[in-house]
Amino acid sequence: MRILSGIQPSGKLHIGNYFGMMQPALELQQKGDAYLFIANYHALTSVADAEALRQGTWDVALDFLACGLDPERTAFYRQSDLPEVNELTWLLSNVTPMGLLERCHSYKDKLAKGIPPNHGLFAYPVLMAADILIVQSNVVPVGRDQKQHVEVTRDIAIKFNNAYGEVFTIPEPSILESVAVVPGVDGQKMSKSYGNTIEIFGDPKKTRKRIMSIVTDSKGLEEPKDPDTCNVFQLYKLFATPEQQADLAGRYRAGGMGYGTAKKELAELLEAHFAPMRAKREELAANPDYVESVLQKGAEKARVLATETLHKARKAVGLE
Ligand code: ADP
Ligand code: TRP
Repeated sequence: MRILSGIQPSGKLHIGNYFGMMQPALELQQKGDAYLFIANYHALTSVADAEALRQGTWDVALDFLACGLDPERTAFYRQSDLPEVNELTWLLSNVTPMGLLERCHSYKDKLAKGIPPNHGLFAYPVLMAADILIVQSNVVPVGRDQKQHVEVTRDIAIKFNNAYGEVFTIPEPSILESVAVVPGVDGQKMSKSYGNTIEIFGDPKKTRKRIMSIVTDSKGLEEPKDPDTCNVFQLYKLFATPEQQADLAGRYRAGGMGYGTAKKELAELLEAHFAPMRAKREELAANPDYVESVLQKGAEKARVLATETLHKARKAVGLE
């Protein structure tokens, strides 16, 4: 089974990304032939500053390696090191109906937010289809928000195969439904666009302050509290053992404990969870040649499949 996923380098990764995407993707490394890439071509649709894109791309590379990506198991690469995807995008564009792209929620949401539509934003799902089809991936693990893009990929692949013969494997989305939405410090979904994130590798002091600012209800110290409706507890659960969860839930219900105490305990667990990864990240940051060699090797491995697929597709349409 071949598995592929990608993440855009469009901001500092937060614990919503970590539990919602990184951890499940890293678990899948054990289950098959895994490909994971940093979608920097895609990020051009929202990042207009060259240095920010360069730095963001490098940060994501360090973040994934620090959090446990095993380069021996997973081909890890920068999208832009596989420019073959752009040629495939063009071949796919010619079997992609306008209506299919016009229906994409992500495109419509961006229009609704007042983002001026350009061709890159509109054609985003075709580039994503090329990422997936070029390695002939069977499974694409993504968050719910990306499901439609994988369905578009399937439609494009079927159209191409019908028109030109069997060139592409039809991929299945693997939706990470089991992953709860991680709330941000204000209780809405944690997202960099809401400014409510807790970064994975933020400065520890700032992270602590951020945790102390999590919104709660205004119950007094002595009053019993409900763990199930509390943002602090929802975040605590992500890091705690079942025993720790039961213990804190008991103290919530008994009363006599303020939210400050729960926040402090959350801060400690979070720091303990990420401290070894932070140390690994510092090591990696001091060794850019190693990180670069991982990305180069990943691109070389992906290129073997990409070259083969592109050759088949070029032949099918009459370019070879
Ligand atoms: P953001 O909302 O911060 O812009 P992205 O849309 O770039 O994040 O998401 C990258 C990945 O992380 C996606 O697979 C998405 O489903 C997952 N993800 C983002 N925020 C959360 C969250 N709060 N809870 C769970 N998963 C999330
Ligand atoms: N669009 C995805 C996101 O924003 C990132 C992405 C680009 C991707 N190409 C992909 C994900 C191919 C899976 C497969 O999260």
